[in-house]
Amino acid sequence: MSGPADPLLELREVTISYRLGSNLLRGGSRQRDVVRDVSLAVGRNQIFGLVGESGSGKTTIARAVLGLAAVRRGSVIFDGRELVGRGGVVRNEPRIQMVFQDPNNSLDPSMTVRQILAEPMIISRIVPRSGIEEFSAELLATMDLPPDALGRRPYQLSGGQRQRVGLARALATKPALIVADECTSALDVTVQAHVLNLMMGLKESAGVSFLFISHNLGVIRHVADQVAVMQDGVIVEAAPAAELFSAPRHRYTQELLDSVPSFGQ
Ligand SMILES: Nc1ncnc2c1ncn2[C@@H]1O[C@H](COP(=O)(O)OP(=O)(O)OP(=O)(O)O)[C@@H](O)[C@H]1O
Ligand SMILES: [Mg+2]
Repeated sequence: MSGPADPLLELREVTISYRLGSNLLRGGSRQRDVVRDVSLAVGRNQIFGLVGESGSGKTTIARAVLGLAAVRRGSVIFDGRELVGRGGVVRNEPRIQMVFQDPNNSLDPSMTVRQILAEPMIISRIVPRSGIEEFSAELLATMDLPPDALGRRPYQLSGGQRQRVGLARALATKPALIVADECTSALDVTVQAHVLNLMMGLKESAGVSFLFISHNLGVIRHVADQVAVMQDGVIVEAAPAAELFSAPRHRYTQELLDSVPSFGQ
C-alpha cells in the first residue's frame, strides 16, 4: 500500500483480539481476532476516513490506537515511535485525543465547561495555569461556542454544542491527532455539517490530523482526504478520497456507494 512518506500515525499489519469468556472445564480462554492484518497510514494534516459496516472493526482500531484494545500482532507507530507493539507495551501519548459518539457519556455532568476544559490542561501541563482561562476562551471561539458557555454544565447545552465542547476538550492538550469515532452520527444533518466544517477548519488552522470513523459514506466524502473501507475485520480498499469515490475498485465499496441515495447517478 502506498501512503504518505512521513506518516503521523501508522498501523503495520495489526491484528487485534478480544478475549472471550474463559472455559473453566477446558481451562484457558479463547481469543477472537476481530481485526486482522490491518495496515494504514494517516498523513500529517490529513483527515483519514475509516468506513465500514457495523461490527467490521472500526471502533476496535480506534481503541488500539488509544491503547485500550490488545494488539496481538503488528505495531502502531505515532510520529516515528512505536506506541503499541509486541507484548502490548503502550506509551501514553497526550498528542492523541479522542472524541466520542455520545458526549452525554463522555462529559461529566457535574462539571462546568470551564472545569471540563481545564482538567486536561492541568493534567498534561501543556498550558501554564495562568494561561488556562484565556486558552479555554480561545477554544470556545474556535468551536463557535458562546463565551458564557464556560459557566454552563453539559445539560445546559444543545447536543451540537455538547459535541463541540467534546472537540474543544480534545484540543485542550494541543493534539496532533484526534481519533473521532462516529462523533457526528447522533446529530441532525445541519448541526452535523457545522461540526464537520469546524473539524475541517482545524485541519487547516491548527494542523490537526484526524482518524475519522463513520459508517456514513456521505460524511466521509465531505471530510476525508484518504479513505479506507473495512469489511469483517480487514481493509478491503484504501485510496485517496477523490479516487475512491469516482472509481471504487472493490465490489463492497461499490455496494456501499450504491446504498447511499445521493450517490446514485
Ligand atoms: N469488548 C469486546 N469483547 C468481545 N468482542 C467485542 C468487544 N467489542 C467489540 N467486539 C466485537 O468485535 C467486532 C468489531 O466491533 P467494533 O466495535 O470494532 O465494530 P464497529 O465497526 O465499530 O461497528 P459499529 O459501526 O457498529 O460501531 C464485533 O464483532 C464486535 O461484536
Ligand atoms: Mg463502532
